[in-house]
Amino acid sequence: MTQIVVKRMNEQHGNAQSKRLTAIYEKILEAVNEGVHVVDDRGNSIIYNDKMSTIESMEKTQVLNRSLLDAFPFANEHNSTLLQALREKKTTANVKQTYFNNQGKQITTINNTFPIYEDEQIIGAIEIANDVTKMERMIKDGLLKNGNTRYTFEHIVGESKLIKEVIENAKRAGRTSSSVLIVGETGTGKELFAQSIHNSSSRASRPFVSQNCAAIPDSLMESILFGTKKGAFTGASDRSGLFEQADGGTLFLDEVNSLNPALQAKLLRVLQERTLRRIGETKEKEIDVRIIAAINEDPIDAISNNRIRKDLFYRLGVVTIVIPPLRERKEDMLTLLAHFINKYNKMFRMEVTTVSDEVKDFFYTYDWPGNVRELENIIEGAMNLMIDETEIEYYHLPSHIRRKSEKNSAITSPPKSVEGIVTEEPDMHQELQTLMEKYEEKCIRKAIMRNYWNVSQAARQLGISRQSLQYRIRKYNIHRISNISE
Ligand SMILES: Nc1ncnc2c1ncn2[C@@H]1O[C@H](COP(=O)(O)OP(=O)(O)OP(=O)(O)O)[C@@H](O)[C@H]1O
Ligand SMILES: [Mg+2]
Repeated sequence: MTQIVVKRMNEQHGNAQSKRLTAIYEKILEAVNEGVHVVDDRGNSIIYNDKMSTIESMEKTQVLNRSLLDAFPFANEHNSTLLQALREKKTTANVKQTYFNNQGKQITTINNTFPIYEDEQIIGAIEIANDVTKMERMIKDGLLKNGNTRYTFEHIVGESKLIKEVIENAKRAGRTSSSVLIVGETGTGKELFAQSIHNSSSRASRPFVSQNCAAIPDSLMESILFGTKKGAFTGASDRSGLFEQADGGTLFLDEVNSLNPALQAKLLRVLQERTLRRIGETKEKEIDVRIIAAINEDPIDAISNNRIRKDLFYRLGVVTIVIPPLRERKEDMLTLLAHFINKYNKMFRMEVTTVSDEVKDFFYTYDWPGNVRELENIIEGAMNLMIDETEIEYYHLPSHIRRKSEKNSAITSPPKSVEGIVTEEPDMHQELQTLMEKYEEKCIRKAIMRNYWNVSQAARQLGISRQSLQYRIRKYNIHRISNISE
């Protein structure tokens, strides 16, 4: 707790009272679902709660009582919103950021950063990160996603022996209606496989209904799966559940290991009897639904920690498809890279051809906790930072990824000069003035990116004043782009 707050409480309530309040505030800080990070007037971190530590994948000991610039190697006055709040009295509201934590989980936050005043003096700055991962996921997946499936086996990219074997097994599963259990870490392509199996099966013309079991509270899940009869409970109406909506097709139950055991038992009963009863209904109804379930952890762990019932596991896993993590099939890296570069070239109308050798080396040593999704996000993020370069370089990679690899920090320093940027033959039909401006804009954008928006440093490299650079940033309408876009 900050000394300032403690001091003020001392004045108001005396020592014992303030101690108790401090303990209460500390409890609150650890209980809230928001990440909280506070720096004092010298830029030293004085509050860094558990949630923030999870979001940013930083140990409290790495951050607390240290200067922000020491704790976060890529923070500088211009790209740290906390320091901007402190030095420039700047409030940054509602900035969306996406991170991968140590477990490879993708986390999306909405951040608010602002200075803290006491008697018109700035005494520190606070950053509050609201974890909106679940909400994002619900919006993205659609609460009750139905119908449109995009993926077929043709969309699954990979040359390694491992992935080819998995694809073959999955294709075989397309010929039957047996239950399938897909096991794979986050971002390995479980949804891709589930849709591909459905689309290659005789059920392809019937609905594919997908539900992430972790995204819905237990209390709602039962009625969402099985439906309700009017009057079953207050506010209940006659509504079909996902099983009925998927009739004749496939129901994909993602993260089935997060269903509570009682619901898992009900699910098992439905799978065995092939009939179901809406909540509050007395009549049983026959159903014809293929179940594809997915879990993102080792089934043995899930069973031994009671996250999945053994009987349900055997029932679901008639066919089990285990998708290996990317770090175990690095041979797929280049094919996947080419695939995603191609995808974003089309989307962004760019002409990127490859990644630099440094980036390649880094990709081969990195362990990819977020798997293929992480790779795709990194390529998309990097291509957002490029102007007309054709090669993705190390400094194009999002800062959170560079930060993760101490080992690679030596190759993060950007080139010192901007010479050699002008490579195109000038088009003589254009006015000299326009051409000059185009080149100037190009040089400025490069310098800004290479210096991670440290305007003073970029100005020094360009050999112009900071004011002059700032004027040009406005003139050419150059904006900062966030690290990752979904
Ligand atoms: N082999 C692959 N080829 C091409 N794209 C892939 C491959 N594997 C995954 N992807 C892409 O990676 C992203 C993540 O895939 P998907 O949503 O299927 O992963 P997931 O295993 O369901 O992840 P999560 O457990 O986090 O839900 C998608 O954009 C998907 O298209
Ligand atoms: Mg998924």
